[in-house]
Amino acid sequence: MTTATFPANPGTAPATTRLDERFSVARRPLSAVTGAEIQAPLIQGGHVRYANLDYGASAPALSVVSAYLNEILPYYASVHRGAGYASQISTSVYENARNIVRGFVGGRPDDSVIFTRNTTDSLNLLAGCLPVADGRHTGEVLYLDIEHHANLLPWQGVPHRSVVAAPTLKATLESLRIELRQGDISLLAVTGASNVTGEILPIRELAALAHEYGARIVVDAAQLAPHRRIDIAADDVDYLAFSGHKLYAPFGSGVLVGRPDWLDAGTPHLAGGGAVREARLDSVSWATGPARHEGGSPNVLGAATLARATQVIGALDQELWHAHETAIRSFLVEGLQRIDGVTVHQIFSDTNDTIGVVNFSVAGYDAGLVAAYLSAEHGVGLRDGRFCAHPLLKRLGLPSGSLRASFGVGSRLEDAQRLLAGIEELRRTGLGWDYVVDAGRWVPANDTRSYPEWAPNTPGTAGAAPCTDD
Ligand SMILES: Cc1ncc(COP(=O)(O)O)c(C=O)c1O
Repeated sequence: MTTATFPANPGTAPATTRLDERFSVARRPLSAVTGAEIQAPLIQGGHVRYANLDYGASAPALSVVSAYLNEILPYYASVHRGAGYASQISTSVYENARNIVRGFVGGRPDDSVIFTRNTTDSLNLLAGCLPVADGRHTGEVLYLDIEHHANLLPWQGVPHRSVVAAPTLKATLESLRIELRQGDISLLAVTGASNVTGEILPIRELAALAHEYGARIVVDAAQLAPHRRIDIAADDVDYLAFSGHKLYAPFGSGVLVGRPDWLDAGTPHLAGGGAVREARLDSVSWATGPARHEGGSPNVLGAATLARATQVIGALDQELWHAHETAIRSFLVEGLQRIDGVTVHQIFSDTNDTIGVVNFSVAGYDAGLVAAYLSAEHGVGLRDGRFCAHPLLKRLGLPSGSLRASFGVGSRLEDAQRLLAGIEELRRTGLGWDYVVDAGRWVPANDTRSYPEWAPNTPGTAGAAPCTDD
């Protein structure tokens, strides 16, 4: 249903962006990824290479991971459930994936490595394992208002306290200390890096703070793990969660790594086959270890590809990795800040430690309209909305959302140039097409472009799926 329109401005001129040697390291991708050369149809006709600036939502598969999937697929069979050759191989691949992931995060030898569907699933699993005595939770979960809903909503079902982050990281740590000092906190739940702005939190310092007051810490590493090396043993982090699909292995798996005592005593996450020692008609003895929470047939290919991706990302030259990401980010931030009417958003004023995420708004335009324009007229894909972080967006004064460009090892400077050129053109000459709101999203009017024949919907028509995850 159409509820609003935004008419085009007539006439557009070519856009320009500057490039200097500081950014040359990012001229090429750091690693090969699938889909790097797909062509996106433009609303005014023709095609252009798709500039994927939406890695923070789901990253493309590494080419190595895609090849590995093809290699192991013929051996795909039941896990833990068969004596046959392929079943034995699948079981071995699945169990070995735990060791690989443990190594990637610097896990302790006795840490449980539990495969889940994603970070959301991992944190919900942990919420069912908080310590209980005489049927009551023995402490509260403490979290900040900057969290993704995955690290906020699971704690609302258990005793909890929240803290509004201060304008500086330093003052935020102090606010957390005040809450922790009051006592009764069993778990500090904190993100490793904001999915909204990319700012990194000091997890070693936060772990020390939590432990000083007898609490444990869980780090939501959904955004951090694809961008920074993690060492939970060195940083003394108790639990860590992340998703395969943000770490170049988009095959439906996630992971929770951490101390086994709470996990072995907690509520089994998925009651069913494989999670039990012995089941009787009306009672059960639950297994311990990862099996307790992995009821049903596991996602062996998801776990295996996640593990393979961690091997590739774990082997990257750190200096080059950071230089590549920093070059794209600096180029983008500096370029956006030069454009009149564009604001780049940050949570804290005292940190520059940031992953490959840039959050911004363009004055006079809905974020959703800018995203639709960039996609339709420039072949640039990025995220708009509230990023499943409603409390933070409200506090930042962005109740109707903003834009997020995110990138990674498959990105190249040209992706950022394309985004800047699009925004420059928007400010200079306005939209080149008419846009309407359809099913709650801005889309180009009279869109006749089509998807590949195997994808049923045509963008911008009544058949397009509404975006529910804002
Ligand atoms: C920081 C953060 N935490 C958790 C999640 C949830 O991840 P998933 O959708 O894989 O469960 C996301 C996803 O965007 C995220 O960015």
